[in-house]
Amino acid sequence: MKHAVLLGSLFMATTAMLPFASMAAQATRASFGHAADGQNIDIVTLTNSHGMRARVMTYGASLQSLLVPDRNGKLADVVLGYDTLQGYLDRRQYFGATVGRYANRIAHGTFPLDGKAYHLTLNDGPNSLHGGVKGLDMQVWKVVDVKQGAVASVTMQYSSPDGDQGYPGNVTIKATYALSDDNQLKIAYVATTDKPTIVNLSNHTYWNLGGEGSGTVMDHLLMIPGDAITPVDATSIPNGQVVPVAGTPYDFRMAKPIGRDIRDGRSQQLLFGHGYDMNWVISRKEAEARVVARVEDPRSGRVMTLWSSKPGLQFYSGNFLDGTTVGKDHHIYRQGDAFVLEPQLFPDTPNHPDFGSARLAPGETYRNTIIYRFGVDGAMAK
Ligand code: GLA
Repeated sequence: MKHAVLLGSLFMATTAMLPFASMAAQATRASFGHAADGQNIDIVTLTNSHGMRARVMTYGASLQSLLVPDRNGKLADVVLGYDTLQGYLDRRQYFGATVGRYANRIAHGTFPLDGKAYHLTLNDGPNSLHGGVKGLDMQVWKVVDVKQGAVASVTMQYSSPDGDQGYPGNVTIKATYALSDDNQLKIAYVATTDKPTIVNLSNHTYWNLGGEGSGTVMDHLLMIPGDAITPVDATSIPNGQVVPVAGTPYDFRMAKPIGRDIRDGRSQQLLFGHGYDMNWVISRKEAEARVVARVEDPRSGRVMTLWSSKPGLQFYSGNFLDGTTVGKDHHIYRQGDAFVLEPQLFPDTPNHPDFGSARLAPGETYRNTIIYRFGVDGAMAK
């Protein structure tokens, strides 16, 4: 508690002392309410000189809102979610959330590590999804650093105890959200452990570049530079194959509207997912950070490019938004009202050795840095 007060006052002092604060990216901190167990939830607002504004809350280290200018400079909130903490407590749905310890699915919630089988909590039919019953998206993180200047940032930390949801090792996770004056939002995930474990972290923001609640994203133009996907079974677990996208509805190598091929009933994968919900192979191994997706909304002109070094990209076309969620500003979210792009390892990697490795050992540092660059009509976001 003392620690929090001290951090708070240090931060206030920094704000007051900055001589160039009006030109640079800024950060402010406030309470966003209380979790069910009474813990305070903070929300940190990052702003830049182009009017971009990101709000990040400590419940699930989540992106609660992001204002982005369109081609006329008009701002809209391009991420789905709720106006109040209560919305997130009542119906989480991973809006804006940090997901893990293992983002995506682990078959039957079971994985081998160093000759031993581990069993996770199950929350997606027979499988464990995004860390299990109480994943990182539902944990209360702590603000450990706030900065402003050329870049405004907040770092949140969560210490996941040994055995949390069945995962071995005490794992310390940091999420830094940084907004810069060149309209980039960068999320840097870092994790360390005291015992061998598995880690795969990502962010689960639901995007609509026309603004949340503005309707469907089926006309957004999407480009994914992946030559193959890892097809799944009826429970969304990879069947182990790596299948080329050429000649299939999964070919987004040239930008096309998200909705163009989504009704192709010859594709079992689209039937399983009720739309797109699978992993694209960007590369077989971790690589230098590169563009893993580009999305353009022809109506508003907003463009987002997504950068990461991870081999896989889960693309989910908001198929299970079913008109029963009332989000921000009383907006009903319906099927296809958002897209989700999650750079990560391939799903269920711990059960598919040829997909790579998710193992993290003591002394090593896990990292996933995701950059979202914004622009309009092709400018700035290349
Ligand atoms: C989570 C996953 C998505 C999708 C939905 C289905 O959000 O991240 O890929 O499977 O569940 O509800």
